[in-house]
Amino acid sequence: MTDHSQPAGPVIRPRRLRQSAPMRRLVAETRLDPAELVLPVFVREGIETPVAISAMPGVVQHTLASLVDAAREAADAGIGGLMLFGVPASKDSVGSGADDPDGILNVALRAVVEAVGDRIVVMSDLCLDEFTDHGHCGVLDATGRVDNDGTLARYAAMGLAQARAGAHVLGLSGMMDGQVAHVRAALDAEGFTDTVLLAYAAKYTSGLYGPFREAVQSSLVGDRATYQQDPANATEALRELELDIAEGADIVMVKPATPHLDIVAAAAAVSTVPVAAYQISGEYSMMEAAAANGWIDRERALMEALLNIRRAGAQIILSYHALEAAKLLRP
Ligand code: PBG
Repeated sequence: MTDHSQPAGPVIRPRRLRQSAPMRRLVAETRLDPAELVLPVFVREGIETPVAISAMPGVVQHTLASLVDAAREAADAGIGGLMLFGVPASKDSVGSGADDPDGILNVALRAVVEAVGDRIVVMSDLCLDEFTDHGHCGVLDATGRVDNDGTLARYAAMGLAQARAGAHVLGLSGMMDGQVAHVRAALDAEGFTDTVLLAYAAKYTSGLYGPFREAVQSSLVGDRATYQQDPANATEALRELELDIAEGADIVMVKPATPHLDIVAAAAAVSTVPVAAYQISGEYSMMEAAAANGWIDRERALMEALLNIRRAGAQIILSYHALEAAKLLRP
């Protein structure tokens, strides 16, 4: 007779809930939805056809026309938002193209808002680095250092130009002190009280931004360590987060995403506004390079990375894989 008093093996078996795809689907704690994905896109002034970005296979610098097509495709796929970056034909020391209503980014914003603005959230990068000939995110003082307070006036002008172009969300990515309060005040004074501010609260200085620098043809020499955060610090990220929320940020962001999932989780635990995470160019390129070599399972890896960022607590994810992911989620 079988002795039932002693179990033959473990009584508690977590594997029970993993036994089939429907069972795993039932108990999944985290799900991705295209609505929470944002696709960053690049639009370049003065080109006739899209230009491939060599370090980011599958990503291009768009013409105005191809950008509008891509925006329609993203809206059709149910993606939550687009983040626009402009690549101007010429640059100067103060980034004049940034607040010129005829500057490429503002022209592109108007075109995209007109085409799909009722179906998708249109976001705009608010930073000078694509527009300055020295490549820094702000203007420089007489000694060549990035001038925080002088830069704020430029951000206000840029923010107003983007709001006038119809941008729904301004992505404050420059990491200048006081930028959120300053841009908020400038917008409100002109009646743009509905323009949403997404603050890059914790933007870490990183060796992974290289592909983006190619994408926007950055002229930067050196790094951004005097304004972007030191990857050594976590508490400082919470201070930045608190400040940005106090200054009026509607959404806060952590970036890069995967190397800083601990910060995403910490921010999500304390934030009183939605938390976004930006899976940056280098994260994309590393994955594409490994996949191109046949070293990883590309589709699984890209969905897994997004899921993990979501699980860490980001409610919104910016990713160059957003369109492909949306299509995989809703075939
Ligand atoms: C600033 C900005 C950058 C990125 C987003 N906004 C460049 C930087 O901080 O050097 C990087 C995004 C990426 O690497 O994908 N305009």
